[in-house]
Amino acid sequence: MSDNIGRLTIIGAGAMGSTFAAGVISAGLVRAEDVTLTDVDVSRLDELRSNLGVSVALDNAAAVNGADVVLIAVKPAVVSEVLDQIAGVITSKQLIISVAAGVRLESIESRLPSGAKVIRSMPNTPCRIGVGAIGFARGRFAKDADVGVASRIFDAVGMSFEVPEKLLNAVTGLSGSGPAYVFMLIEALSDGGVRMGLPREVSTKLAAQTVMGAARMVLEENEHPARLKDQVTSPGGTTIAGIEVLERAGFRSALIEAVKAAAERADELG
Ligand SMILES: NC(=O)c1ccc[n+]([C@@H]2O[C@H](COP(=O)([O-])OP(=O)(O)OC[C@H]3O[C@@H](n4cnc5c(N)ncnc54)[C@H](OP(=O)(O)O)[C@@H]3O)[C@@H](O)[C@H]2O)c1
Repeated sequence: MSDNIGRLTIIGAGAMGSTFAAGVISAGLVRAEDVTLTDVDVSRLDELRSNLGVSVALDNAAAVNGADVVLIAVKPAVVSEVLDQIAGVITSKQLIISVAAGVRLESIESRLPSGAKVIRSMPNTPCRIGVGAIGFARGRFAKDADVGVASRIFDAVGMSFEVPEKLLNAVTGLSGSGPAYVFMLIEALSDGGVRMGLPREVSTKLAAQTVMGAARMVLEENEHPARLKDQVTSPGGTTIAGIEVLERAGFRSALIEAVKAAAERADELG
């Protein structure tokens, strides 16, 4: 296993913690026996131990001892408490990755020993099925090799991009909140299909498959979306009739404004 990242401790075995555990194990980045998950809920830990074959613990400080990478996946309000618990055992050799929304690098670093290597990230829910979009920023002491390790972890559950920390709010507004916009888009397209007589189930699946197909063409053909749109828009045809309605309704500017509003809200909350 050349890509092995060593021993991984994940603090918080909820939605994100368990997603990352399953993702890195199935990507072969770490052996299940080298992963320790911690939580306050014993039954949740028991379930994950039997499903994933990981070690589990209730004591965060003990679980962090000896880990190469520590992933912090508790709710933002609990991060300070967790950092205070583990600060005494963290060394400058370990890499600390946070997925907590809105918790700044400076606030994480200030609670850990000087020189602690920290990476802050913003994942999204599709990480759960391995197609997440993740933005991340490095702290003062994280080196290129640490970013390499973090990228391998993120890429096990999706696609990741390093950005300056100040742009993580933009990532939140786009890919963090974005799945909700796309769920609404799919629901609305499905309503359109139903309006024109399609059965609901067929309509929703056609809508979702269309969104996935279009997204994959953008990523896999590496083509500008406007060019792909032009390719399916014949003169006087059906698609340009639909596009005209979308433009009149302010479709594109509504999405731009949505990303902006969510990013600004992330800034306020942070
Ligand atoms: N879910 C997403 O799609 C998503 C997207 C982007 C970022 N995030 C970030 O990911 C982090 C986790 O979110 P989540 O949705 O995975 O939350 P979650 O499902 O509530 O998971 C957090 C887990 O941590 C446990 N916990 C609480 N205090 C703890 C402690 N002191 N030590 C160890 N574990 C403790 C919680 O137990 P109890 O429930 O019993 O308190 C819960 O099982 C958050 O900071 C969030 O901002 C999540």
